[in-house]
Amino acid sequence: MDSIKTYLEEHKDRFVDELKELLKIPSISADANYKEDMLKAAEAVKQSLLDAGCDTAEVAPTPGHPVVYAEKIINEDLPTVLVYGHYDVQPPDPLDLWNSPPFEPVVQKTDIHPEGAIFARGACDDKGQMYMHVKAMEYMTRNDELPCNVKFMIEGEEEVGSEHLDWYIKENKEKLQNDVILISDTGMISKDTPSITTGLRGLSYVEVEVIGANRDLHSGLYGGAVANPLNVLSEMISKLTDDNNHITIPGFYDNVENLTEEERSKMAEAPFSIEEYKEKLDIKDVHGEEGYSTLERGSIRPTLDVNGMWGGYIGEGAKTVLPSKAYAKISMRLVPNQDHKEITELFTKHFESLAPDSVRVKVKPHHGGYPYVTPIDTIGYQAASAAYEETFGKTPIPQRSGGSIPIVSLFEKELDSKIILMGFGLDTDAIHSPNEHFGIWNYLKGIETIPWFYKHFTEMSKK
Ligand code: BES
Ligand code: MN
Ligand code: MN
Repeated sequence: MDSIKTYLEEHKDRFVDELKELLKIPSISADANYKEDMLKAAEAVKQSLLDAGCDTAEVAPTPGHPVVYAEKIINEDLPTVLVYGHYDVQPPDPLDLWNSPPFEPVVQKTDIHPEGAIFARGACDDKGQMYMHVKAMEYMTRNDELPCNVKFMIEGEEEVGSEHLDWYIKENKEKLQNDVILISDTGMISKDTPSITTGLRGLSYVEVEVIGANRDLHSGLYGGAVANPLNVLSEMISKLTDDNNHITIPGFYDNVENLTEEERSKMAEAPFSIEEYKEKLDIKDVHGEEGYSTLERGSIRPTLDVNGMWGGYIGEGAKTVLPSKAYAKISMRLVPNQDHKEITELFTKHFESLAPDSVRVKVKPHHGGYPYVTPIDTIGYQAASAAYEETFGKTPIPQRSGGSIPIVSLFEKELDSKIILMGFGLDTDAIHSPNEHFGIWNYLKGIETIPWFYKHFTEMSKK
């Protein structure tokens, strides 16, 4: 299989150009104005899978955005790898903070990516990482290196909570049968420290509304005498955590799995520099739950964060007004064995209890998802580890991530599969932020590593 290196050398410019074409389509799942582009992106992914050698490919409608499904079955007796990814992207705003337009991909060098990185919304999350699998497939089919069966399920609603994928999976259980699910939608520690993601956090996402008087009021005539929903909301939010940055919702930590000292000290061995971390983010100090390290705060501990807060006057100049309503979007990242439905209920009860009689509150649940932790004693994990060894010359470090891919726990439940998270992005790639990018080195390394996974997985499955 050493021919993969030659193949990459020969085709890398085309691989970059093809990804750029896909990145030009603004497939923003959250915004109904982009429905047509969602379909266009799905069709493009379908075509790329056919070009890469899949026997069949379809754009399957769902009640929401379509799922792209494709497969190549070479022999029923061989193992089957199911690749999951998503072609939808986050909204690109704030637009004025982008150095180049989000849907006009450009290659630019950075300190971390001297070989160049592709800048565009979705470059890393997840079009770039998903497309590595399409190109790895192309390599395997054109060089007679495909050792097993492959199925692709590329969805269009990951960034909005995979609302209809649940339905799609239940409808297509037979068709989706597999021996392992392979996903590249996470990151790795650094270019010279490969890692395999072994955990994802769950999520409970709510929107709250605090309602005061029945209309906006003159802040001179009424200020001080009638509750200001923005002031009240700020106070209520501040009460959700204590001085040690513990979350105060009663029952919130009840089911949280505590790691053993051994597991924690193993975690602490992962290379991590707090100084570098602070420097990259331009912050004087970190912040978080007392008693836990920065790595732990960002992966094995649950969190509560305000993602946005609004109300009142935010236009130019000053307007003296006491707003009638205030809003906030709040997310809680969850860890094993927290249940997002229970947590949303606990939050709602507690938040309502914090409201003074001078206001009314409403809590609207958005999406949620379960956390996921992968075992490392499976053939899938061993095969992934062996694949990284082939291309990085190093054993990858298992690492739990702070992000969420809510649908992953459902894969295990409905399809009874083990999930392997082979991510090639870096924390500095600015996913969900302005100037998202994906290093060309990372992109090519992914394409090089994936075929080795297939090879090792097929061989290890035989034994
Ligand atoms: N690919 C990310 C999740 C991710 C990124 C996991 C990096 C680990 C490392 C995914 O597209 C994502 O953004 N998920 C959302 C949740 C979703 C329900 C909107 C998230 O984590 O905020
Ligand atoms: Mn993603
Ligand atoms: Mn994302």
